[in-house]
Amino acid sequence: MAPELERPVTHLSSSEPALLLKSTPPRALKSFMDRERLKLSRLEMGSGNATLLLAPTGFGKTSQLVQWRRDALAQGGLAFWHSLDNRDTPRRLIAGLAHSAQATSGKRGFAGPFMQWISECSDVQEAATAWLAEIATLSVNVLLLLDDVEFLPGDSLSQVLGYLLGNAPANLHIALAARPTNALMSSGVLNTFPITRVTASDLRLRPEETLQVLSSALGSSCNPEEGISLHELTDGWPLGVQLAAATAHRMGSLQGLLAEGVGGCPTLLH
Ligand SMILES: Nc1ncnc2c1ncn2[C@@H]1O[C@H](COP(=O)(O)OP(=O)(O)OP(=O)(O)O)[C@@H](O)[C@H]1O
Ligand SMILES: [Mg+2]
Repeated sequence: MAPELERPVTHLSSSEPALLLKSTPPRALKSFMDRERLKLSRLEMGSGNATLLLAPTGFGKTSQLVQWRRDALAQGGLAFWHSLDNRDTPRRLIAGLAHSAQATSGKRGFAGPFMQWISECSDVQEAATAWLAEIATLSVNVLLLLDDVEFLPGDSLSQVLGYLLGNAPANLHIALAARPTNALMSSGVLNTFPITRVTASDLRLRPEETLQVLSSALGSSCNPEEGISLHELTDGWPLGVQLAAATAHRMGSLQGLLAEGVGGCPTLLH
């Protein structure tokens, strides 16, 4: 075992500021385009108990996770958020997952003695098993939302994420968001278990969706011809469409932005 993994994680208490930040979901977008085809309840009909948003930057992965969280809460379930980073060794990841669960479960589970035990447990698999068992006792549907999965070190992918995906109880659904980096794709962990995949082509805005986002962001209905031109320019890349809307808002019209074309705003292209 690597020396890093042998270090105790007792310093990762529930008051650790980093864990607090990592378990806090970002704010929902005001102009979020909620699409029926991307509802988790529809995607869950696919295989397995996990859903993966896999796309490059700005395709709306984080925004979609935030929306799924809202939907899960509205349906009376629990939703645990955890943003990952490259310092998440297996034991830090387990500590973080326990923190995220405790922050949201209230009195249902993840009580003090359990948190103390898991922070001291030196066996990653034993800790992951206990975490899953605690979820199973919650007797409510739980959605675990993991953002920025591409940052996870290889041992955390295989020892923790792979273990959770392979052993999730029936009341747990795992929603993952990741950029398709070489390291992640070659780790194999995403191919080992049945996971419903949502890719860039699913997340891209369709023409009518671009028009709706533009109208909502500009605060007025958008000229359809201009909107479609912008859609073609950005190819429905959500971040590009929002950047265009913000630029058009500043310039006073979409027409001015389109006249300048990509040269006027190269960031619109992905
Ligand atoms: N469904 C949507 N409706 C409207 N705007 C959207 C939508 N999805 C994404 N956007 C726009 O794209 C921006 C980027 O989205 P988001 O941060 O979710 O992308 P991401 O895929 O998580 O990117 P990264 O890989 O960099 O983390 C949002 O701030 C928003 O402006
Ligand atoms: Mg993101």
